[in-house]
Amino acid sequence: MSTFPEKLQSKLQDRKTKNALRQLGIQNNLVDFSTNDYLGFSKSKVIFENTHNFLAAHKISKNGSTGSRLLSGNYQLFNSVETMLCEFHNIEAALIFNSGYDANIGFFSSVPQRGDIILYDEFIHASIRDGITMSHAKAYKFRHNNLEDLKQKCETERSRNPLETEIYIVTESVFSMDGDSPDLLAMSAFCKNHKAHFIVDEAHALGVFNSNGSGLIQELGLENDVFARLVTFGKGLGCHAAVILGNNTLKQYLINFARSFIYTTALPPHALATIKSAYSELGISNRGEVSHPAIIQLAHNIEFFKLELQRLKLEHAFIKSDSAIHCCIISGNDHVKGIASKLQEQGFDVKAILSPTVPAGKERLRFCLHSYNSEQQITEVLFLLSKFASL
Ligand SMILES: Cc1ncc(COP(=O)(O)O)c(C=O)c1O
Repeated sequence: MSTFPEKLQSKLQDRKTKNALRQLGIQNNLVDFSTNDYLGFSKSKVIFENTHNFLAAHKISKNGSTGSRLLSGNYQLFNSVETMLCEFHNIEAALIFNSGYDANIGFFSSVPQRGDIILYDEFIHASIRDGITMSHAKAYKFRHNNLEDLKQKCETERSRNPLETEIYIVTESVFSMDGDSPDLLAMSAFCKNHKAHFIVDEAHALGVFNSNGSGLIQELGLENDVFARLVTFGKGLGCHAAVILGNNTLKQYLINFARSFIYTTALPPHALATIKSAYSELGISNRGEVSHPAIIQLAHNIEFFKLELQRLKLEHAFIKSDSAIHCCIISGNDHVKGIASKLQEQGFDVKAILSPTVPAGKERLRFCLHSYNSEQQITEVLFLLSKFASL
């Protein structure tokens, strides 16, 4: 057997020394404060059975797609799901990617061109960073959710670059490691005034915001002010894959130039049928203005969690959030890991987010809330937190 390179071995050793070694866990039966399954859709029997029934009714019995969508892998269900996504998300065009990671690297590696500028929030998701790294555009970060810093950087870039330079401004509507949100209305107005293209990652907003769970951009009525919107299906929708929403020209461009779209085998029919069933469950089918009960329950649990933070005087230790993600800063990998382990021993699955995933000193416990968490579970886990951590 060949030996493992010394340099790689020492990188692993460094992770071990910092108590930051990543390891694969296994799904457990603890009380869930860690998954992205905000509405419990990953476990929904209705969605599972509707998917099966849909495939059977349409005599779709293929296991795989057989190729890239540009070769043999595109089939009618793609068209019908993308049409449904346009309708649900109130947008001209939708292009499905195999995952949110693929969508972000495909978009950012192909859309901004050499000489263009990307301005991105410093806490942006790794998939966007990786896409930016693959791009030939110049990229600068602005301080987290800081419109003043964005303004200053944007104006500097406008003044020192030729008039035809395109500027892309990118943020998340809900930050995955913080749970907070930028002032999207102000950012969108700013982008309009400065002729910049606004890009918003809605991975953690689907199923959580707006009465039908369609996300924060739609709750704010910004659909037509955003150049590209990423929605992922692996979180609030409980299944898998992602879509980029924009106009027809953007879709055509991505089909031609986004390499993570072109050079990969398309999703199998089962994955698309699951997305279709999950969206039907979310509200596209005949529910009119009434929200899905899980959306209502999740909103209730988020409010209850925030009230409990106040009651237990824990608010100051948490990052302010209206989403399903609530983070308690506990600095130091050892410290935060220790508290997460104690909560897990008491039956609550709360994950520690370590550096280097978040900056050193800003390590945190991340509480993901769900429609299926009870008030009692929320009260208990926060009570235990206040007991274990001196906050
Ligand atoms: C903000 C954000 N964008 C994109 C992704 C990637 O999505 P996916 O899990 O579908 O690859 C994630 C997942 O962690 C995310 O949190």
